[in-house]
Amino acid sequence: MSRPTAPAVLYTRDQIQATVRRLAGEITADYATKKPLVIGILKGSFMFMADLVRELDFPLEMDFVRVSSYGQARRSSGKITVVQGIRTPVKDRHVLVVEDIVDSGLSLRFVLDSLRRKKPASIEVCCLLDKPARRAVPVPVNYTGFETPDKFLVGYGLDWAEQYRNLPDICYLEEIPR
Ligand code: IMP
Ligand code: MG
Repeated sequence: MSRPTAPAVLYTRDQIQATVRRLAGEITADYATKKPLVIGILKGSFMFMADLVRELDFPLEMDFVRVSSYGQARRSSGKITVVQGIRTPVKDRHVLVVEDIVDSGLSLRFVLDSLRRKKPASIEVCCLLDKPARRAVPVPVNYTGFETPDKFLVGYGLDWAEQYRNLPDICYLEEIPR
């Protein structure tokens, strides 16, 4: 598969930094005394998670789950698999799930359902990017960075066919090769 034309910038690194700080302020107000378990969904959230937790100056723990649904297709297949689960006990913990982007909502719903079965004290979601136009199932998002237009986004952790995750800005691809 050939690499698409160069992506155009949608949100600059400065806009991302300001948004991450705003989210961290909101999360701090709610979680500073709760010693939350912050769970990042890999791979897409790795960069966001790294920046977000460095803005949180209170006790917390971290873990990661890795799910996959897309393969190299643009749209979610709806078939979600856990590639790597978490070992940290979740029972009675205040869990904050950190996601890069909520699109159909299927991946997030799958993760939330499996975490809820472990009986956390509470569970909330922080996503950097929300594409509400494409939601197929309702999912609760408590902290949202940007509401985005219906474009295919790459960079700052997000990929197209495993490429572009390393871009420091959030960009979009005009044309997606199929
Ligand atoms: P959903 O299950 O359709 O909500 O998709 C969630 C996952 O699909 C995200 O965690 C991303 O990894 C991926 N995804 C959704 N939209 C995009 C996009 O625009 N660019 C890159 N990855 C995306
Ligand atoms: Mg993802």
